[in-house]
Amino acid sequence: MTTVDLPLLPLGRGTDPLSERGVDCPGDLPAASDPDLVERARAAREKLGERLFVLGHHYQRDEVIQFADVTGDSFKLARDAAARPEAEYIVFCGVHFMAESADILTGPDQRVILPDLAAGCSMADMARIAQVEKAWDALAAAGVQDVVVPVTYMNSSADIKAFCGRNGGVVCTSSNAEVALDWAYAQKGEDTKVLFLPDQHLGRNTAVLQLGIPLDECVVWNPFKPNGGLTAEELAKAKIILWKGHCSVHGRFSADVIDELRAKVPGLNVLVHPECQHEVVLKADQVGSTEYIIKTIEAAPAGSSWAIGTELNLVQRLKNAHPDKNIMFLDRNVCYCSTMNRIDLPHLVWTLENLVEGVVVNQIQVDPQTEADALVALQRMLDLPGKSHRD
Ligand code: 13P
Ligand code: SF4
Repeated sequence: MTTVDLPLLPLGRGTDPLSERGVDCPGDLPAASDPDLVERARAAREKLGERLFVLGHHYQRDEVIQFADVTGDSFKLARDAAARPEAEYIVFCGVHFMAESADILTGPDQRVILPDLAAGCSMADMARIAQVEKAWDALAAAGVQDVVVPVTYMNSSADIKAFCGRNGGVVCTSSNAEVALDWAYAQKGEDTKVLFLPDQHLGRNTAVLQLGIPLDECVVWNPFKPNGGLTAEELAKAKIILWKGHCSVHGRFSADVIDELRAKVPGLNVLVHPECQHEVVLKADQVGSTEYIIKTIEAAPAGSSWAIGTELNLVQRLKNAHPDKNIMFLDRNVCYCSTMNRIDLPHLVWTLENLVEGVVVNQIQVDPQTEADALVALQRMLDLPGKSHRD
């Protein structure tokens, strides 16, 4: 087994330019206990007016989401960012890969800002470009590369999206993965295989449950093993090659909790995100993106019971917004996304007040070549047919 040496990077003492590790905010952040933070954020927003556009992912804290001009899942927010060419500053309350996508989809004069550069994504970090290039070469050596179409989940770095753009692939999100896979399988005839990056669970759940691909035609590529840990025969038989990555938040939900809750709560509906493990999705009643989860709960009758398997900030917000429904979290323990949670009110106030002073902090800038290649894959996604990703 090969290992990757990752230097220890305490905050503020050296950074890894390829990830968010070790980064710290320059200057003084307001104290989290400052009672004036809400007023300060409001005042800064007002001063910036139409020059500012704040995007908030559904997993953000309430204290932050109250200042978002729009909220959404990663697909909706990417489209919303692209639809605001007049905004000078796009403050992205979400994680690093989302801000990168916004930078790619917005104009050259627009500045995309992530209030805390340490807001990364453990799943996105599980696929590094050098590992993916190596896997691509191994697929060539195994004689299958010319029928493989790479598809990457939005939750990946810009250089992985650029890789897909350069190699005939596409980006997808949890709301359009089925349409994206349909598109991919139409690219190279009936022998087409998909290399799905970096979330094995979204790839498997979509391939098996929506496209009807047999489970034994889904193989997992382990980047830490020679040839991904797969034989030439396994690769030849595979219809989808799933990168061995996962979400550390959604990976926690387990099938036994579903059994336990069903035994306790009559008529329980289980609603989960497709980043959950396959056995969890198999036991759930419904599966869908964060946007789908919200719409489902909004449409649910009063008195109905729901166990929801997604990030806790969103589940708590849904519970507060729908007191007439019995809403519970699908895990025994607290399960916030720690990197999403890094965006807090002190970081937002610090960002906005700097902008008022004309200082752009924590700008996310993708280099021009990566941006051009990644845009090809993102544009293919935006051009996909079908209703599911447009609503
Ligand atoms: P969506 O926003 O696409 O539902 O993805 C969930 C997620 O994990 C974002 O990081
Ligand atoms: Fe990444 Fe999972 Fe957090 Fe989303 S919820 S940002 S996929 S770790």
